[in-house]
Amino acid sequence: MTQSSSDIAPIDDWNRLLDGRVVVVTGGGDGIGGAVSRLFARHGGIIEIAEIDAARADRTVEAIVAGGAVAHKNIVDVTRQPDVDRLATTVLDRHGRVDVLVNNVGDFRPLVRFNESTPESIEAMYQVNLQHFFTVTRAFIGSMIEHRRGSIVNVHSVEGMRGYPNDPVYGAMKAAVAHFTTNLAVLYGRKGVRVNGIGPDLTQTPQVDYMTGGEDQDTLWPSWAPVGRLGWPEDQARVALFLASDMSGYVTGHNIPVDGGTKAGGGWFYSPSARRFVNRPRSL
Ligand SMILES: NC(=O)c1ccc[n+]([C@@H]2O[C@H](COP(=O)([O-])OP(=O)(O)OC[C@H]3O[C@@H](n4cnc5c(N)ncnc54)[C@H](O)[C@@H]3O)[C@@H](O)[C@H]2O)c1
Repeated sequence: MTQSSSDIAPIDDWNRLLDGRVVVVTGGGDGIGGAVSRLFARHGGIIEIAEIDAARADRTVEAIVAGGAVAHKNIVDVTRQPDVDRLATTVLDRHGRVDVLVNNVGDFRPLVRFNESTPESIEAMYQVNLQHFFTVTRAFIGSMIEHRRGSIVNVHSVEGMRGYPNDPVYGAMKAAVAHFTTNLAVLYGRKGVRVNGIGPDLTQTPQVDYMTGGEDQDTLWPSWAPVGRLGWPEDQARVALFLASDMSGYVTGHNIPVDGGTKAGGGWFYSPSARRFVNRPRSL
């Protein structure tokens, strides 16, 4: 086999990084998934939103179509296998293939202290944060392998990349998604499929609402995240776009914290009053 730089997929239009690619986004109606759907559509992706909430799906499809791009809604609960089967049949019948899959659904609620957890609460965490990553990926991986083209972006959490005391079960599910990402990447790299993950933190969405926290957020942010501000769904979507597109053609098996630097900060906070970094919350 002759290796050549022509193995690098050409990028013809830097403003349309996903031109003509068929994209499935789970939870693509709002929050991080909504921003992914909108940004990927602006870059020429044909968006298939897999969403449990019809109103959210409608809003995002309407916004995308109003912008002159293409999106379809699929009202499904991705934790239910019959729904995943129906999603796969609909999308594959409509387009004949899927090029990009963004597995995004997840939820930290209800927050259960580990000593109060039950088999049912653990099962519920598994269903919403891990199980559907297996079933939805399994539903579309065959098409990607057949066409020797695919990029999967798994949205997990920075809590799967560091210790999370509030709910160790949730953190473990997110860590499992990150490692599933790594395993799949090694397994399918030679089949033309890349798999990467992002670990959000501190991002304003319907699920994680920092705007109505009741505290004076503006004074807190400088010491909260190293970049000094709240994160927005678009911050996540931009990194997901890089990973989904040929921009990252030589990147696979990686999990990127998209966290404003909180993981890197590792317990150090900037104290505006002391004008230095402190690792003692009382000193704040
Ligand atoms: N926002 C953050 O700061 C943050 C931090 C860490 C991890 N995350 C992770 O990022 C992902 C997205 O989070 P978000 O904050 O945007 O969440 P969100 O709850 O605001 O949005 C999730 C979307 O998924 C849909 N959805 C929920 N359950 C579904 C199901 N079973 N089937 C289909 N659709 C479903 C919802 O209707 C909603 O549109 C999740 O995996 C979450 O755990 C977010």
